[in-house]
Amino acid sequence: MTNTPNSRHTSCDQTPAWAELQHLHATHRVDLRQAFTSTQRFAQFSFAAPYVLADLSKNLMDADIAQALNRLAAQTGLPEQRAAMFRGELVNRSEGRAVMHWLLRQPDDALKNLSAGKRTADIAATEFIAKEAIEVLQTRHAMLAYAERIRQDQQITDVVNIGIGGSDLGPQMAYLALKPQASRKIKFHFVSSVDGTEISQVFTQIKPETTLFLVASKSFTTLETMTNARTAKAWFLAQGGRDVARHFCALTTNTKAAAEFGISTTFGFKDWVGGRYSMWSAIGLPIAIAVGADHFMNMLAGACAMDQHFLHEPLATNVPVQLALLDIWYRNFHDFRSRSVAPYHSGLRRMQAYLQQLEMESNGKQVDQEGRALKVATSPVIWGEPAANGQHAYFQLLHQGSDVIPVEFIVVKAPNHGLADHHTKLLANALAQSRALMMGQGDKNGHRYLPGNRPSTTLLLDELTPQSLGALVALQEHRVFASGAMWGINSFDQWGVELGKVIANDMEQRLHTGQTDGLDGSTAALLQKLRS
Ligand code: F6P
Repeated sequence: MTNTPNSRHTSCDQTPAWAELQHLHATHRVDLRQAFTSTQRFAQFSFAAPYVLADLSKNLMDADIAQALNRLAAQTGLPEQRAAMFRGELVNRSEGRAVMHWLLRQPDDALKNLSAGKRTADIAATEFIAKEAIEVLQTRHAMLAYAERIRQDQQITDVVNIGIGGSDLGPQMAYLALKPQASRKIKFHFVSSVDGTEISQVFTQIKPETTLFLVASKSFTTLETMTNARTAKAWFLAQGGRDVARHFCALTTNTKAAAEFGISTTFGFKDWVGGRYSMWSAIGLPIAIAVGADHFMNMLAGACAMDQHFLHEPLATNVPVQLALLDIWYRNFHDFRSRSVAPYHSGLRRMQAYLQQLEMESNGKQVDQEGRALKVATSPVIWGEPAANGQHAYFQLLHQGSDVIPVEFIVVKAPNHGLADHHTKLLANALAQSRALMMGQGDKNGHRYLPGNRPSTTLLLDELTPQSLGALVALQEHRVFASGAMWGINSFDQWGVELGKVIANDMEQRLHTGQTDGLDGSTAALLQKLRS
């Protein structure tokens, strides 16, 4: 059995640091151009974590603000909440679950020790963790062996991942990021929407005898995924496909439902892995098939290195904590309501979609862990595009629009192609944008006036590898945990998505029957038009 958390959160707005920050916001106007007259600023506000250098120096803070923010982290009990998560306590209180995606990236040796009841440097081998560790290890070995078999199976040329949300975004984002390391033999397709356009287009590109369908769903009940899975199976059989057992594989916590669906090859994981935190689990099978067991393990190792950093680095230099504090500073004191993510690497072109779910589904909440109304604003809106494209689209608004929107640049030093000239130009643009946002230009009141002093963060990776990708994603996970913990949120439930699912079931019936009783005028009229 796991424990319930014994750490009680102090509401962030009740802490002395909150009042200090209110005062600092009212009295300190940070002008970045001025701030950089200090030659120490970059050294003062850039922090190294495994595989990632975080340059926070172009943000609207100074030493006093940074110190008050660090006090906020301590006063809201962030270290205690972090420890509770790594002890396997039931930190997801509304669902009565532990939160242990970090266990999935522990190396084999650590998992063996834990399962034998021996603590590691970081993790206590409670009865619960020991039991889970052995299962993690067994599933990992089975899944990676299966991935290697598929990679060597000359008959399989296409893998179709059917899943949505956390069962799609992580694998898809990581597959695209690691494509240079991926098998050329296998083509990957990701089907998420219930819009039949997606799966029917995939059907035109595949053959039943050379395709492996992965049905990825934590719950194995999600409408979109189950509809696509049924359609895929019907198509497979109608096309003369034989041996469903060989051509369908399920990735789920609900192994019973997978069996009832007729899938005998299943890789499981536990309810202590949130969907949006699940790419390290069996949900990562498409990544493992694409890049192979060694690269998959390297991705886990990069994430594990970031776990260590998050656990042990002092708050003042702890990169996930510093990013989270900045998020709070901007959201609650500056009232900046969104953050734009700008990956300057085409391999990271699904990163912003991934981060949208990670952050907004985790921290888009109005109540605290006890379900009481929060008095403070929470998650900003996360949005963006691979930035070279964004520059020629919406960056106008970032430079001259009426809202200040902090930008997070993700920059990779070494290219994974040989076109050096392209890469130099790409890097030049990344540097140019953060500098232009900060510097601005001209006198007030002309069309060419850019106010400047617009904040940005740059996350710098030496190269995009399985290790650095793992570290980057774990960094973002811990940042979301840290801001959620300081706000007092349960970052691991998502009750807000349930109502839409219930109403969709009702609407599906009504679309069949035409029944509009009890509906509002708009929905009733639209429904009738859709049926006519
Ligand atoms: O509806 C939201 C959600 O539950 C997400 O949290 C999750 O990632 C997604 O749907 C898919 O869920 P599942 O993996 O259970 O199919």
